[in-house]
Amino acid sequence: MNVSTFPNNRPAPGHLAIIMDGNGRWANQRGLPRTEGHRQGAKALRRAVEAACRFGIRTLTVYAFSSDNWKRPKTEVQALMLLFRKFLMSEVAGCVREGIRLSVIGRRDRLSEHLIPLIEDAERETARGERLHLRLAVDYSSREAIVRAAATARTHEEFSAALGPDVDLLIRTAGEQRISDYLLWECAYAEMVFLPEYWPDFDEKLMASAINTFAARERRFGGLVQPMSRASS
Ligand code: FPP
Repeated sequence: MNVSTFPNNRPAPGHLAIIMDGNGRWANQRGLPRTEGHRQGAKALRRAVEAACRFGIRTLTVYAFSSDNWKRPKTEVQALMLLFRKFLMSEVAGCVREGIRLSVIGRRDRLSEHLIPLIEDAERETARGERLHLRLAVDYSSREAIVRAAATARTHEEFSAALGPDVDLLIRTAGEQRISDYLLWECAYAEMVFLPEYWPDFDEKLMASAINTFAARERRFGGLVQPMSRASS
């Protein structure tokens, strides 16, 4: 499948954001520890990145660890941080090869001292990637990001630049229908697709079905539909 196969001849969303929810429930259903759900979730993330490249998505922002996730048991937090470290260590070479730029958004001052140099190296080594910008949100709170941007930016443009590009499509898995302090400003005009499947089951087919739903929707940004632009926009 490629971009031209989406409904109305529409391209894939430029910026796809994902709330990767349901790792714990996926594991519970199978009588496995929650950490196994996260491990499978990391595999699903790799599949999502590959699919995003194939569909021509330019920016993919995924919610890996919210600032509220610090409230979870210490063992689960440690397991998530370890997965994050492993992800950085194992994926950077592939990202460079595939033209994927990797960035981490969110606070860094509460992350372990082992993690920060890995993040900085990964960002530096992949900085020239132009095919896909993969942004991992770690210790991320959108409210906090907005407050920080507001404290430094002097214009609307600076404010938007401090936060990042507008989201075109937000996918949340596992059936919950809320945004949970994720990209609140950037999602002002995002289309939202909520999937019942748990995140570890996410694959290219599910991404394609969400993009199909997105492509079939009419986006008006508060204006009126432009009949001439429907086929091309
Ligand atoms: C939500 O599921 C998911 C998370 C809190 C963490 C997301 C992390 C991953 C997908 C692991 C890999 C990430 C990287 C960057 C390697 P949940 O635990 O809230 O599930 P539940 O609602 O079913 O309990």
